[in-house]
Amino acid sequence: MKNIILCGFMGCGKTTLAKKLAEKLNMELIDTDQEIVKAEGRPISEIFAQNGEEYFRNLETNLIKKLSAEQGRVISLGGGLAANPKNHPYLKEAGTVILLDCGIKTTLKRISGDKTRPLTAGGQQDIINRYNARKPVYELVADIVVNSAQSKAKTLNETLEKLSKKSSS
Ligand code: S3P
Repeated sequence: MKNIILCGFMGCGKTTLAKKLAEKLNMELIDTDQEIVKAEGRPISEIFAQNGEEYFRNLETNLIKKLSAEQGRVISLGGGLAANPKNHPYLKEAGTVILLDCGIKTTLKRISGDKTRPLTAGGQQDIINRYNARKPVYELVADIVVNSAQSKAKTLNETLEKLSKKSSS
């Protein structure tokens, strides 16, 4: 079975949906942020503060390169991974890419003021600008787009329906 990959902006619900999908489909779960934190032995905020964003982005690219050669997992991506077109060939090779989008209003409600995410420090307008810049880049790589502003159960159902349509088409 090919991998199922969840991408989207911070706060769109990738981690929660990935857990549910992995359970439902009996697949192994991988979260790229967690893998990086484990390998580095320090939180993402520290990686950014000590080595800078570019260092973190290189870790992401190396990880997705490695994961694209393996199969059978639900992979939840950090929000910046699919926003980097350099990673798109690896994502395409890795499996079916699902974009979760909850819209900018819900995004702001969910992540404004979050101290654990280094890229929320610039405030609301900066988050809006990043969201607007990234959305078309996510759309370039996505095979399926799911609305994640609805309830978790509805988001899961919509994802499963779209996945089954995709695999029968
Ligand atoms: C980032 C999103 C974060 C994490 C890092 C950078 C981004 O993951 O990878 O803070 O650039 O959008 P989540 O999308 O899980 O918050």
